[in-house]
Amino acid sequence: MTTVLVAGATGSLGRQVVEKLLDRGADVRALVRPASVDELAAHPNLTPCVGDLADGADALARHLDGVEVVVSAVQGGPEVIIDGQRALLRAAEGAGVHRMVPSDFSINLHGYGYGVNVLSDLRRVFADEFATSSVARTSVAIGAFPEYFLGAVHEVLDPAASTFSLWGEGTRPIDVTTIPDTAAHTAAIALDPKTAGREVHVVGQRLSMLELRDEVEAASGRRWELVRKGTLRDLREEVARRRFTASTMFQCVALQAQVAMFDGTGSLRDVRNADYPDVVPTSVAAYLADRGAAHFTPPDTTWGRDEWPTAL
Ligand SMILES: NC(=O)c1ccc[n+]([C@@H]2O[C@H](COP(=O)([O-])OP(=O)(O)OC[C@H]3O[C@@H](n4cnc5c(N)ncnc54)[C@H](OP(=O)(O)O)[C@@H]3O)[C@@H](O)[C@H]2O)c1
Repeated sequence: MTTVLVAGATGSLGRQVVEKLLDRGADVRALVRPASVDELAAHPNLTPCVGDLADGADALARHLDGVEVVVSAVQGGPEVIIDGQRALLRAAEGAGVHRMVPSDFSINLHGYGYGVNVLSDLRRVFADEFATSSVARTSVAIGAFPEYFLGAVHEVLDPAASTFSLWGEGTRPIDVTTIPDTAAHTAAIALDPKTAGREVHVVGQRLSMLELRDEVEAASGRRWELVRKGTLRDLREEVARRRFTASTMFQCVALQAQVAMFDGTGSLRDVRNADYPDVVPTSVAAYLADRGAAHFTPPDTTWGRDEWPTAL
């Protein structure tokens, strides 16, 4: 039985990674902050480990004895993605951990350079830590979560106005993978020793923005007016403008992600779904016919200036 420590085990993705690892027979330690420990469901092979990445490597080390793989699904700024994950990596090195899956779970963040997407930049800075580490890095890339991409933060769907907005031509395929499918793939990849030191790209479905609009219309049974917001050059200019005008950082960051999605630099390469045939991804149509139908009505919550948006 492989022992895996999951950081961010109470998050949208992390809690499902824990479930999928348990389904695969792993022995799971869930690193949870004190205020979140009640959110963990009980399971005979699940051990809660109360701690915070901010506690530092020495404090984290006590949770890592006997752990073979670390999966991180934390979310946050540089203090979490760089400093916090670095502390976890240092503790993992001391404990002889074989592999670590860092909290990347994005488009192909190595397809474009620094300065395009601040969240990718944090992840690339942390990736460099593995160059001199005894722990092998296994990065999982999945494209976009529809749970966020079709939510308010990305400004694609406006359910109150029944509009579907896009930048550029809308004909280039983008990569879309649901959170449960990402979790299922991550569990399989984390338990696969062949992934040590590799970037593993897996995807739910590839489709263009125009095809995505067709799926939205078919699933919702209503018309969504197509709003062409401008060229990709216009998108880049809007991103630059928002650095000064956005009232939350996400109004800038979501568009930064769209730059690399729509110009193709963030497209997944060498997709490895065939290596994990027992993970059967959900189509966009199936997602929209089920949980994703919630995107078709206006949300009743907004998020605060410094609050991370939540998934559907
Ligand atoms: N590709 C995409 O479209 C897409 C979209 C969204 C997210 N993502 C990625 O998916 C990953 C997970 O995101 P998510 O939406 O699941 O995040 P989330 O729901 O916000 O969960 C974040 C988790 O990190 C934990 N955490 C934060 N700071 C911590 C610390 N200092 N010490 C220990 N735990 C800490 C939180 O604990 P508490 O429960 O105690 O707060 C929570 O469990 C991230 O890498 C994110 O960038 C990708």
